[in-house]
Amino acid sequence: MKKFYLTTAIDYANGSPHLGHAYEKILADVIARIKRLQGTETRFVTGLDEHGQKVQQGADAEGIEPQQRCDRIAEEFKEILSTLKISNDDYIRTTEARHKKVVCELLQKLYDAGDIYQDEYEGFYSTRAEQFLQEKDKVDGEWPEIFGEVTRITEKNYFFKLSKYQGWLVEHIQGSTDFIKPDFRKSQVLEFLKEPLNDLCISRPSDRLSWGIPLPFDSGFVTYVWFDALVNYVTAAGFGTDEFSDYWPADLHVIGKDILAPPHAVYWPIMLQACNLPIPKQILAHGWWTTSGAKMSKSTGETVSPLALADQYGADAFRFFVMREMTVGQDAEFSLERFSSRYKGELGNDLGNLVSRLLHMCHQYFDGIAPDQELQEEWEERLQERWQETSTKVLQLFEGFQFHQALEETIGFVRAINKYADDRAPWKLAKSDAPEDVQALRTSLGTMLEALRLANDLLAPVMPGVHARICKCLGQNPVEKWEGRLDWGRHLTNVKLGEKIILFPRD
Ligand code: MSP
Repeated sequence: MKKFYLTTAIDYANGSPHLGHAYEKILADVIARIKRLQGTETRFVTGLDEHGQKVQQGADAEGIEPQQRCDRIAEEFKEILSTLKISNDDYIRTTEARHKKVVCELLQKLYDAGDIYQDEYEGFYSTRAEQFLQEKDKVDGEWPEIFGEVTRITEKNYFFKLSKYQGWLVEHIQGSTDFIKPDFRKSQVLEFLKEPLNDLCISRPSDRLSWGIPLPFDSGFVTYVWFDALVNYVTAAGFGTDEFSDYWPADLHVIGKDILAPPHAVYWPIMLQACNLPIPKQILAHGWWTTSGAKMSKSTGETVSPLALADQYGADAFRFFVMREMTVGQDAEFSLERFSSRYKGELGNDLGNLVSRLLHMCHQYFDGIAPDQELQEEWEERLQERWQETSTKVLQLFEGFQFHQALEETIGFVRAINKYADDRAPWKLAKSDAPEDVQALRTSLGTMLEALRLANDLLAPVMPGVHARICKCLGQNPVEKWEGRLDWGRHLTNVKLGEKIILFPRD
């Protein structure tokens, strides 16, 4: 049976992981966790893009083999995944034998079909930078110093017939409402496709670039960049094995806006179409994080790496922040002030305080045994109605990738629980022996426990660790599927509650 197959871009193995890489994995992870909570079998894959000139140059500069450098960088990236609680099912590296085999198979297929051909390429070449240049690389009409001597050379290379499929692609994109998200990006891609496509140069001579996959039909050349990298998505879906049809076509590729057009929205669908393979159902292009050095420095002048915040404040707070702060598809500014304000406000004051004061009262008044909701008065009804509205809305927002709003709604509900507490004032009720006050005290704490249980289940995909800790306090198992867990009324009556905890400590 077809499963939900979800991927991220594979990161370049030419530097250390940064906020942009981390965000994309978190975004995709949240989507994968939502799918699983909805009961959909899901395969979530991320990985590393290891070939290319920069990787080779980096290794040369260190005096080591490119593979050795990639192995080290892969460990760094994998460590970040584990720190950030990314639940990927596979990690694909483009230097793996399984991947090289698939790349060669597809290249051969396209070559045999006549969609890949050899031609001469003429252009300006910088020997120092070892790259072809374009007129736009000139500054004030001159080649900048860094390129050294620039000469006009001709080079034989292999080309892929992109142009042959342009009409088909335009028609497909125009006719689909889901293929490219957000919608404004679809318009940009169609705009890009108004110009005739040039065929894509897919090779480099091996004497100029040795760190790549040799073309199966000409060992004097290696594949170049996209023909290698994009294929990872089908490799990781098990191309050539029985399980391939369980995963392919991909349901969702999560990528950044810089690699939408042309790579993912043009090259990739055309490559697949030319190979007679179905194309992905959806591509989600997120925006970019920007960090201005000034804003990311502490008052001492010391600069802080965004990823260091995950170590200092916990992966869950970091995940919450990036999902809460960025509107998927738009750019956002990452600043310490913004992080700190969300951490202290929504996490500390709204959620953290609710958990600690509620547990404190349950221990103080009921020896840590969850009381029943005996009454159903106006206050309780209002909170329950609010829950109905919140849960319906949040699930819809999740569907539309509107995570910042979904979190705003969820935290809004947490605030409504705090408001309910202020209105019911259990600490005042606890001072009275009148039977109706005793009942109201039981009800108020029982209601707050139930409301917290529900809010916590909605937070699970974004803050899995905090979710599990709150579950433990409430004597619950972490949620695996939402079905049945999002309805008001499970009641935690008579459950033995855990001790009071501080979820988001102040430093
Ligand atoms: N290797 C290619 C992708 C090949 S996919 C078949 C690549 N690698 S990358 O390391 O440069 O970028 C990986 C992902 O991180 C991309 O989707 C890119 O958009 C994203 N980001 C890199 N910097 C970013 C920000 N500052 N903010 C958000 N995401 C950005 O491209």
